[in-house]
Amino acid sequence: MKVTVVGAGAVGATCADNIARKELCDELVLVDIKEGVAEGKAMDLMQTAALLGFDTRITGSTNDYSKTAGTDVAVITSGIPRKPGMTREELIGINAGIVKTVTENILKHSPNAIIVIISNPMDTMTYLALKSSGLPKNRIIGMGGILDSSRFKYYLSKAMGCTSTDLQGVVIGGHGDTTMIPLTRLATYQGTAVSNYLDADTLKKVAADTMVGGATLTGLLGTSAWYAPGAAGAALVESIVRDEKKLFPCCVYLDGEYGQKDICIGVPVIIGRNGIEKIIDYKLNDEEQVLFNKSADAVRNMNNALGSL
Ligand code: 2OP
Repeated sequence: MKVTVVGAGAVGATCADNIARKELCDELVLVDIKEGVAEGKAMDLMQTAALLGFDTRITGSTNDYSKTAGTDVAVITSGIPRKPGMTREELIGINAGIVKTVTENILKHSPNAIIVIISNPMDTMTYLALKSSGLPKNRIIGMGGILDSSRFKYYLSKAMGCTSTDLQGVVIGGHGDTTMIPLTRLATYQGTAVSNYLDADTLKKVAADTMVGGATLTGLLGTSAWYAPGAAGAALVESIVRDEKKLFPCCVYLDGEYGQKDICIGVPVIIGRNGIEKIIDYKLNDEEQVLFNKSADAVRNMNNALGSL
């Protein structure tokens, strides 16, 4: 199994680190446009192999995609990250060209690869990669909901005073501060609704904190986060390469599901060796469907901006 991570910045390197530690592939290629960075990070990561006990071979490449030939899964993290006060959407002008070119380069050498998009604005970048490549919809997956759901469980665990791993919770919709939808009604603590333990105001605050989870970290760090985004990308790769068929909220192309067409946006899906294997219908209530439609409108507006770039 061969995995490529494009963009050897903090998110890409952390994703590669998680992939190697779990030995999700024999061969892992890091690619970056900045001379020497991917080679350097690959060498640094390889020098953890003896300490951590993994056999995955990591190599780096400065923009030479011939090294990525035969990739099974490619994770695209390229592009500029957010600065404090910036929305993910403000990155579209620069990142659109980068994501389109990287997708083309990957597919030129690995026509059968499954592509995972992390670059922001993620929903629009996923739509762009799908439309520009013409790939079947099961092979382009946007990573946002897994990360947002992990942040949701973090804020829930703080409110509950319990561990995140005892919680189930899913965030659907766009991967934006105002477009994501933490599904508080469906969140559970070992099978019982969290609303049994938390009042409505606390749940509202958990949802609000989740929605600005990325922005909170950008404010603290001066750039966007990397540990959770990198780990979330690796979790998605794991479900593909091990054919785990995990249920994750991912940004996928909808053709009528959840009442939406011609859009890539976050919904619960089964992820396996074929990429997106099935879209799961959560049967949203009216209030949640209204929020989902509003989120889709905002994502669609952003997609429309692609035409004027
Ligand atoms: C985040 O939410 C990078 O979009 C990513 O941190």
